[in-house]
Amino acid sequence: MCGIVGYIGKRDVAPLLLEGLARLEYRGYDSAGIVVNSPKAGALKMVKAKGRVRDLEARVPKRFAGTTGIAHTRWATHGAPSDVNSHPHLDPENKVAVVHNGIVDNAAELRAKLEAEGVVFASETDTEVITHLIARSQADTLEEKVREAVKAIDGTYGIAVMHADFTDRIVVARNGSPVILGIGEKEMLVASDVAALIAHTRQVVTLNDGEMATLKADDFRTYTTSGTTTNSTPETVEWEAASYDMGGHDTYMHKEISEQPDAVDRVLRGRIDDRFNTVHLGGLNLDPREARGIRRVKILGCGTSYHAGLIGAGLIEGMARIPADAEPASEFRYRNPVVDPDTLYIAVSQSGETYDVLAAVQELKRKGARVLGVVNVVGSAIAREADGGVYVHAGPEVCVVSTKCFTNTVVAFALLAVHLGRIRDLSVTDGKRIIDGLRKLPAQIQEILDGEEDIKKLAAEFAEAKSMMFIGRVRGYPVALEASLKLKEISYIHAEAYPASELKHGPLALIEPSLPTVAIVPDDDLLEKNRAALEEIKARSGRILAVAHREQEKADHTIVVPKNEDELDPILMGIPLQLLAYHTALAMGRDIDKPRNLAKSVTVE
Ligand code: F6R
Repeated sequence: MCGIVGYIGKRDVAPLLLEGLARLEYRGYDSAGIVVNSPKAGALKMVKAKGRVRDLEARVPKRFAGTTGIAHTRWATHGAPSDVNSHPHLDPENKVAVVHNGIVDNAAELRAKLEAEGVVFASETDTEVITHLIARSQADTLEEKVREAVKAIDGTYGIAVMHADFTDRIVVARNGSPVILGIGEKEMLVASDVAALIAHTRQVVTLNDGEMATLKADDFRTYTTSGTTTNSTPETVEWEAASYDMGGHDTYMHKEISEQPDAVDRVLRGRIDDRFNTVHLGGLNLDPREARGIRRVKILGCGTSYHAGLIGAGLIEGMARIPADAEPASEFRYRNPVVDPDTLYIAVSQSGETYDVLAAVQELKRKGARVLGVVNVVGSAIAREADGGVYVHAGPEVCVVSTKCFTNTVVAFALLAVHLGRIRDLSVTDGKRIIDGLRKLPAQIQEILDGEEDIKKLAAEFAEAKSMMFIGRVRGYPVALEASLKLKEISYIHAEAYPASELKHGPLALIEPSLPTVAIVPDDDLLEKNRAALEEIKARSGRILAVAHREQEKADHTIVVPKNEDELDPILMGIPLQLLAYHTALAMGRDIDKPRNLAKSVTVE
């Protein structure tokens, strides 16, 4: 949600920042802006534009020289998308420039106070408050001015600040919104996401909440907002720059769907122990005695990660025989839940930055709970806040909607379920059965992907629907939920997901020829029950697309997927529905990687 990139060094900064913004655009894309230092010291130069980074690029003059700059791509929270509400925000004298991710909770109060002192605001944003606070500070150093400002604000921020009187530095600060320093040779970068850094350096320092940094061309310094030096040392980022390219695909979504066989292979690698038919998860920090003491598992996540958590809860309950359920983290936080010391809490997040999940983790930790993370981004806020966890190793996911991270998260849950199960009641034989099934997944996913052309033909038919129904039972229900979310996010077709068993309790009233139903029909103990639901729909002249292990007579079309172990079927049954959503949206001409109103990584409430 919103992207920041900044640079100080010797290079021409504008092209470098625009390229960085393009890499961050998936985090927010309703407006963008850039500030560079003017070689003629004393003022900063700025260009901003409502719209995409390419709209900003079109406005940046040919001669826009400078070797220090900060830039931002925005996803509006305070104030509608517009040129003036875009970041950076400058003071009236063009001396101070601020880019900000996050939300200033006391912005209205600070704004009123500043207005009473005669400040005239140019925008409706909360960020502009920070600019004026810094500009009006009487402190001698930029660091001190920024420190005073961040002490005055409540809320979340990742900020980068330039000042025309201190042209040798950029000062940055973090509280709840990622700030990552990129350490180069006689040049320094800063960004809210490694995506913008990786083409220039793989040496990074991730700031902690309450930390600030001063970047100079040949030096950086980290310290707390109270001024204590923190001496952070750089770490090497594992992800390759090429992972952020489209690699010959037309969209990131297509690329990421196609990467799933390799991604699943990665999450399994090095974790299976054939000797004991179990799984080792190095970062769990949970010894067998503690694992045996768990009486419940509660999984928390948002959106797609919540859906992965629902499947995860089923896997853990089924294999480890521990009562387990999943709940949206956003709901959990606000219902004052009973926090039980014998419950294992698991926070699921692709980005590791989602505010609602992070806030739930912090609340749980404050109450003494044990929290594990199932996270993709290494070193992200949730990964660091958790007591331990499992990285899902999907690699960078750039498309706003999640596909490979979902699949890898579910596989990570299957690994965790085997691990917990083998410490408790899962037999050697069942452990081996699941492990063998896990190993088959990459090739089976590839087999499904090879059927893309057929799914594309089906999608052409569905692109005409105004609304669609998705149904599944038990393990199939979260698959239906996720498939319906994927379709609505990128095609904007209204979609509902219901447990198949609930059809006759209400939604059957909706069934008619113009409302197609996608039904998840695995060959498992519920096959006959699922077939009965197809009969009910057919009897009302409903059109049916089944995702099944064999042709379904009552369905108008069946996508046949390879059979794995019953427990692992949901992983495979979701894949063709990613492709269905993709091709439906494509047939409708949608902007698939950047759907309207959405942004990757929701770091605000
Ligand atoms: C949907 C999607 C979102 C995210 C949700 C949580 O395709 O990607 O629903 O799953 O915003 O994000 P993370 O997993 O980063 O916590």
